Amino acid sequence: MEHIKWDDSLSINLSQFDDQHKKLLYLINEFYTNVDTSSSEKLAKILTGLLEYTIDHFTSEEKHMVEYRYPDYKSHKKQHDLFILKINEFHDKFYSGSFFLPLRIKLFLKRWIVNHILQIDKKYAEFLHQKFGK
Ligand SMILES: [Fe+2]
Repeated sequence: MEHIKWDDSLSINLSQFDDQHKKLLYLINEFYTNVDTSSSEKLAKILTGLLEYTIDHFTSEEKHMVEYRYPDYKSHKKQHDLFILKINEFHDKFYSGSFFLPLRIKLFLKRWIVNHILQIDKKYAEFLHQKFGK
């Protein structure tokens, strides 16, 4: 499966979050690079790193949404919480030996991050641009 490439279509025109999204893609791509050749321990470590960074990133997005009184904050946060749960679940199941698990994780990560940025984060960014000229 191809790595996820950053391009301007993924930009939400908020540089601090664009930078964080780039870092997230970098961490997901690190998982892709290692998935076929590295040990379960190494992959679990990469997932832990991804999880930690994702939690930091979501926290900063959520603080920003609260600060700007974003009306869809709750549903946006729910998406974040579900993602964290899912990655935790993958991490915990990692040693259960499911052959297809790495592929499932790859598919999930790619779909989730691209859809979330393009639909959910962009909606928030549009709200900010319109309401506050940010
Ligand atoms: Fe988000």
